Amino acid sequence: MRYSAQKGTGDILPADIYKWQKTEKMFADVCHSFGYEEIRIPTFEQTDLFQRGVGDTTDVVTKEMYTFDDKGGRSITLRPEGTAGVVRSYIENGMSSLPSPVRLFYNITAFRYEKMAKGRRREFHQLGLESFGSAGPEIDAEIISVIDVFFKRMGLKNIALHINSIGCPACRSKYNEILKDHFRPHVGSMCEDCQARFEKNPLRMIDCKIDGEKEIVQSAPRLIDYLCDDCKAHFEGLKANLDAVGIKYDIDPNIVRGLDYYTRTVFEFVSENVGTQGTICGGGRYDGLVEDCGGTATPGIGFAMGIERFLMEAEAQGVSFEPNDNVKIYLVGMSENAGAKISKLCYDLRLNGIGCERDLMGRSFKSQMKYAGKQGIPYLAVIGDDELTSGEVKVKCMADGTETPVKLDGLTDYLASR
Ligand code: HAM
Repeated sequence: MRYSAQKGTGDILPADIYKWQKTEKMFADVCHSFGYEEIRIPTFEQTDLFQRGVGDTTDVVTKEMYTFDDKGGRSITLRPEGTAGVVRSYIENGMSSLPSPVRLFYNITAFRYEKMAKGRRREFHQLGLESFGSAGPEIDAEIISVIDVFFKRMGLKNIALHINSIGCPACRSKYNEILKDHFRPHVGSMCEDCQARFEKNPLRMIDCKIDGEKEIVQSAPRLIDYLCDDCKAHFEGLKANLDAVGIKYDIDPNIVRGLDYYTRTVFEFVSENVGTQGTICGGGRYDGLVEDCGGTATPGIGFAMGIERFLMEAEAQGVSFEPNDNVKIYLVGMSENAGAKISKLCYDLRLNGIGCERDLMGRSFKSQMKYAGKQGIPYLAVIGDDELTSGEVKVKCMADGTETPVKLDGLTDYLASR
């Protein structure tokens, strides 16, 4: 029996891992520079959290969740995203008593039973953040600038930012009536999902994967034209704050996002390099979510970026990642007596944080040299009886071929400075 990874999942192999590690580290560094701290949340939660949080008219909840009963009969769901879990943790751990805004970032796997397409997986990885307690548009612009700074520091250029406002419950409920008037004569000919959404959440009809391209959907009134005065002012504030730091954007009234919790600001960074939906990163404000999940009313905002899609974009833009050079020196054994000394030298080097390798396969002298060369290890030293007697070794720099005599007990210091 040969097993293969499940559809929509995959291994991240050593040949690629350095790209992931550099991406994850840069994201953490950028988040830290904006005052965010990392949070780690469980992989699964009770199903109800996602139904309530993400919303039971979304595709994510109705069609895509990995839900099962555990052995205790509880309904459990593998997280399809991070926001609901972070909100649960914020409430459960009493974080509202911390100084605001409470700023949290994360690096998670997420699970959605989606149809396979370019840039779409069933297990994928998200880098994201959530911020609680600040309602003004300054923080909306600030979290967008987290992404902008991250892209720039990773060497990416020109990823289009689309922004929109989908209002607050007050403007949304007026708009829902206008939208229903628009759809009412046609709802009978729309897909089953849209028929259900018509009563429950007509806004969701606008990004229907089945009917989305139809004229009736394309010509639907857009929420941005029906914002109340407060929401309008908030959106103007967002634009002014983005202008102030020089972040370019397009206003895209079609963005409604695929999750129900959003209010006011929604945004996406898009590129045609990353597949059918083209979204590398998406987010927005969710001022009602903490209360909906049982906490005291607290404004919130966040985003998440798919690491797979980010790396697709980076590759398409020709961004180069330096591979890890974890191993600095290879110690070649020239005599049987050298083995014990090499073991001790390797131990001391590693104890001091310097990566090294020695033969573990009984290779001949020649094939040890060949192996070290193939691995691209930057330094090499040959240790035989002469070196044991003299207590000195020649350290060869593989890049330029130069050889430097170094005392065996000074090897750590020599390499530490390289
Ligand atoms: P989302 O737009 O559903 O938002 O997902 C965010 C990002 O995750 C997408 O832009 C995409 O890069 C990646 N992604 C989503 N689904 C898949 C998939 N099937 N395969 C590969 N990548 C995928 C959220 O998840 C929200 N929680 C974002 C947020 C945080 N809003 C506020 N706070």
